[in-house]
Amino acid sequence: MIVYYNDRYLSKDEVSISPDDRGFVFGDGVYEVIYYYPRQLFEMDSHLTRLTRSLTELRINYGDVSNLKSVAKNLIEKNNLQDNHATVYLQITRGVAKRAHAFPPKATPVTVYGSASPFHRDEQKLHNGIKIILLPDIRWSRCDIKSVCLLPNALGNQQAKEAQVGEAIFVRDGMITEGTHTNAFAVFGNTVYTYPKSNYILAGITRKVVFDICRQDRIEIIEEPVSQERFRFADEVFISGTTAEITPVIQVDNHTIGNGNPGPVTRSLQKAFEKIIGQ
Ligand code: PDD
Repeated sequence: MIVYYNDRYLSKDEVSISPDDRGFVFGDGVYEVIYYYPRQLFEMDSHLTRLTRSLTELRINYGDVSNLKSVAKNLIEKNNLQDNHATVYLQITRGVAKRAHAFPPKATPVTVYGSASPFHRDEQKLHNGIKIILLPDIRWSRCDIKSVCLLPNALGNQQAKEAQVGEAIFVRDGMITEGTHTNAFAVFGNTVYTYPKSNYILAGITRKVVFDICRQDRIEIIEEPVSQERFRFADEVFISGTTAEITPVIQVDNHTIGNGNPGPVTRSLQKAFEKIIGQ
């Protein structure tokens, strides 16, 4: 596998990242995951805008991220993934410095890493839907920053795996926030509800596309927290994310959603989404 590491394209085996890297020591870095559908990096500009925002919020000095667009393209080409479904991973950390909590000197170069991997689009999950569990949202209050500090997300997703379900969705102050790596939506009648864009969720790129589709198809979408009690009794539930696309949810904890099959609003959103991505 050819990867990108600090301005160079190398075989992955040749990369050596310092144990003093602040990404390793403090989780002091940010990342993006971009879906490559054959011939298009989906919403690349939106990912770069969000990456810039994450860097700014953490005061990591990277400058203009627009070069990463060609890095992503090159990674697809150098790994012969042009005709595949793939994901591109980009990560930037605050660089290498002797361990001290406060920032290193301004001139410390950041560490930049990028890779591209083939991705299996799970059509069965997209078609049949998944079960999910609800878990307390134990994360910090800057979930809007796409930081590599993903311990609560990893713990939550592991719990989902052990419960043999597809995702865990977090609950903060009794309200559904988002999944471990997805945004969450509940449908009541023909109206879609999702947690407001705020410091308690990541502003998902796929979430934004869901809003675009709703606007275009005149489906009402409201940014309003839904309590965990109401969520369990929603007519439909779905999650969105770069790798999850729009995945129907058919069971929340032990509660079957609707009649146990993906509902009509979710289906129509999926259909519109598939049109956009050309599937
Ligand atoms: N996760 N919420 C969280 C906490 C996420 O980590 C993600 C993405 C999303 C969905 O955002 P988007 O639609 O932009 O992918 C919501 C990526 C895919 C990951 O960590 O693998």
